[in-house]
Amino acid sequence: MKIVAINGSPRGMGGTTGRLLEEVLAGAAESGAEVEIVSLSETPIKPCVACDACHRVGICSIKDEYETIKDKLVAADAFVFASPNYIFSVTAQMKCFFDRCNGLAHRTALEGKYAVVVETSGGGGDEEVLTYMQRIVNSVGAQCVGSIGSPGAGPRMFPDQEALFEKARALGRELCLCVGEKRAFPEQDGGRLAFRARMQYLVSMMGEYWPYEREFWANR
Ligand SMILES: Cc1cc2nc3c(=O)[nH]c(=O)nc-3n(C[C@H](O)[C@H](O)[C@H](O)COP(=O)(O)O)c2cc1C
Repeated sequence: MKIVAINGSPRGMGGTTGRLLEEVLAGAAESGAEVEIVSLSETPIKPCVACDACHRVGICSIKDEYETIKDKLVAADAFVFASPNYIFSVTAQMKCFFDRCNGLAHRTALEGKYAVVVETSGGGGDEEVLTYMQRIVNSVGAQCVGSIGSPGAGPRMFPDQEALFEKARALGRELCLCVGEKRAFPEQDGGRLAFRARMQYLVSMMGEYWPYEREFWANR
């Protein structure tokens, strides 16, 4: 079982988000998963330039590592999105990455995969950021197994840390269980499948301009 974690912190795995992510991934590794971490601090992803190449030809026109990361996600069984809370949302690095996933969203291309989302903050507002990332998970077609977020208590430290880390490791193990048993999350189907239908309709309307996505939906 292969899991890819995308960490949007500019501090990479050395930061507070990286510390919480480590525990989630330790839980997944205990369950036998092979884990790969992509730190956007080391693999910077440039902003989308709205050229529509992802919709027209299926490959991004920007020369960076996005396509490599995309291939890793497509090949994985599950993935993790992790970001610090930056002004009620994800970091700019993570937002650039999410924008570049627009083609994946138009094709809900990660259907059948599972994900968890991880967040840390200075002083709270965790749920808002986690909910946003869960929405991205569903928009690329995947099911969200759960989330974990916490304010920090200093660099790489948390209040009630042992309980938080146990919860994080349990979430990593749960992610693997869901992959193994192909668990359904019917409560997510309303939003997830409505988004899928919206994308299918959008591509049918724009098919003349977006031949790659038109062919994709025609052959699905
Ligand atoms: C630019 C910036 C914006 C931030 N905005 C918020 C915020 O809105 N709310 C909050 O609670 N913490 C905020 N923080 C604090 C970080 O979310 C927090 O320190 C986080 O744990 C850092 O994770 P990292 O070490 O992985 O980068 C902000 C930090 C920075 C640098």
